[in-house]
Amino acid sequence: MPMSRTSDVLVIGGGIIGLVTAWRAAQRGLRVAVVDPEPGGGAAQVAAGMLAAVTELHYGEETLLGLNVESARRYPTFVAELEEASGQCVGYRACGTLAVALDADDRAHLRELHALQRRSGLESVWLTGRDCRRLEPMLAPGVRGGLRVDGDHQVDPRRLAAALVMACERAGVVFHRGWAERLSVVRDRAAGAVLRDAGELTADQVVLAGGSLSGKLGGVPADVLPPVRPVKGQVLRLTVPPAYGPFLSRTVRAMVRGSHVYLVPRENGELVVGATSEELGWDTTVTAGGVYELLRDAHELVPGITELPLTETRAGLRPGSPDNAPLLGPTDLPGLHMATGHHRNGVLLTPVTGDVMAAVLATGELPHEARAFTPRRFSPVYLEQPA
Ligand code: GLY
Repeated sequence: MPMSRTSDVLVIGGGIIGLVTAWRAAQRGLRVAVVDPEPGGGAAQVAAGMLAAVTELHYGEETLLGLNVESARRYPTFVAELEEASGQCVGYRACGTLAVALDADDRAHLRELHALQRRSGLESVWLTGRDCRRLEPMLAPGVRGGLRVDGDHQVDPRRLAAALVMACERAGVVFHRGWAERLSVVRDRAAGAVLRDAGELTADQVVLAGGSLSGKLGGVPADVLPPVRPVKGQVLRLTVPPAYGPFLSRTVRAMVRGSHVYLVPRENGELVVGATSEELGWDTTVTAGGVYELLRDAHELVPGITELPLTETRAGLRPGSPDNAPLLGPTDLPGLHMATGHHRNGVLLTPVTGDVMAAVLATGELPHEARAFTPRRFSPVYLEQPA
């Protein structure tokens, strides 16, 4: 049968955000297509998969916190449903996180974070250095204190992406493996996309979910184009050999001389070490300096890592937005929606993004939990309104 070139919803971008949108929309009975040269690729192939609503809390991001916490709350049900629908495991581990300090400055920073977490109604427990080492004996003896956050878990983003592709296929989503070059606009309404060397796809509604590339799609009116930029992250993968015994039982992270480092241990022995955060445009080079700094900081935190095989080094691009929060829902161009700009929280926000995008596509109403994240907050008309 020839592949249909028309659908109710066309999702541009088959990373985890595009896929979850497509899967959830198909579950609501919509005919959905996804266009992407490599569905399931993108930033999820690099990301560590921390679900760090509490440990990655930042000043000024209280609104985003609400969405992050809501998505973390939905994770167990989401995983159960996705594993059932795909027949695949996504490596969700309810293991918690330990954030530690190595010197007095780091400890002062962590104390501030603890106070902010408490003011925000979040659960975290202050521990002495000795308590930290009791929990994680591989930690360096010099650890000066830490925060135990029992609610910040992890998932394996590569397995999550693979499961979403399978769930989409089983739900009847049509995949077009190619590049969307331009948005088609007919009578001031988004009407589909023109593909590179592969004709045109038409749809009643279009979702732009192109990750860091979302701001580059041709044909999108300038005042609707999302203000998304690439933020480079270099990530390492090490392997804990089975004979090594227990290494880390939970995610361990720290601020070391002002930069963040985290170690995410998977059940299969993979140990992910991340991540740099670099404003270097479209560069995805893995640099000696990036690897050196990650290993140096990780070694200061957990000296035993130098004995582990280094199995992979990779760089990916986070889709950064001006306020570090995603753009979700309708734009000022009728028929065009955004699901992009998830920056550091794409994996965490996958469940809630799928739910709210499917709801708005099926009903026209953006659910209340997503209203603060309307792409219209960046539109020139909105920005020019008096405060
Ligand atoms: N959320 C982890 C990172 O973006 O590096």
